[in-house]
Amino acid sequence: MDLHMSEDFQIVAIDGGAASGKSSTARGVAGAAHFLHVDTGSHYRAVTLRALGEGLRPVGGPALEHFLAGLRFETEVRGNCACLRLNGVVPDAADIRSDAVNAAVSAFAALPAVRKAVRTYQRDQAAVARTHGFRGLVMDGRDIGTVIFPDADLKIYLEADASTRAARRKDEGQTDTIDDRDRIDSTRATAPLAAAPDAVRIDNSNIPLGGVVEEVLRLLRQGASATGASRATEPR
Ligand code: CDP
Ligand code: CDP
Repeated sequence: MDLHMSEDFQIVAIDGGAASGKSSTARGVAGAAHFLHVDTGSHYRAVTLRALGEGLRPVGGPALEHFLAGLRFETEVRGNCACLRLNGVVPDAADIRSDAVNAAVSAFAALPAVRKAVRTYQRDQAAVARTHGFRGLVMDGRDIGTVIFPDADLKIYLEADASTRAARRKDEGQTDTIDDRDRIDSTRATAPLAAAPDAVRIDNSNIPLGGVVEEVLRLLRQGASATGASRATEPR
């Protein structure tokens, strides 16, 4: 596909609530545009899985600080996907989407110390993408357009109505309290789930995945959002 894009490296931020279609859209965009895809939810899930394995509860304090200080974040690039290797292991996809992780991840992700531990790693993914010869980076999560890459070239905020999102999770065979997660994610003090003021909102309740991917590619070609390379340096 000829995307008529500039040769400049581009960053696309995709945010939205649970099951709004972020990861599948980001994957589709990455494949079509030869971008690296980073699913930041998998980072919080991997940290949560490991924390639960060590018997930690989602509260700040010395035990959490000690745990976080012992984490080593590395990246394994598989095709268009950047997988987090945490302390030498890429966690199993089924393990990080288990009921236990679904139930605890938002509480861990709300802790400022946890967010601080992953923030630099996430911003460094732009350099990983460049090093591996990708034309850009597409990162999905909750705070990508607001905190991680506030100068992203294109910011998308995906929405879908509650019944559509619940049905999507059910179709995937998952028991997931997405309403609870969305409530905790939207109301936490640090980096809450929110649309950046310059994000393009797409309600995809009735748009098939391919249509959403095409729309994001069209916006990317158009340069519909803020322009310029990402220069995020300061935590917010
Ligand atoms: O796939 P789904 O939308 O269900 O969730 P996810 O993207 O895997 O994210 C799991 C959880 O990680 C979210 O419910 C948030 O609590 C947290 N998260 C976050 O706080 N910030 C991000 N940038 C990404 C995920
Ligand atoms: O990453 P997030 O939790 O936001 O959602 P996802 O895992 O990308 O999508 C959840 C499910 O919805 C997947 O099975 C997608 O194929 C499906 N989906 C869809 O049917 N239509 C869309 N426009 C987007 C996603």
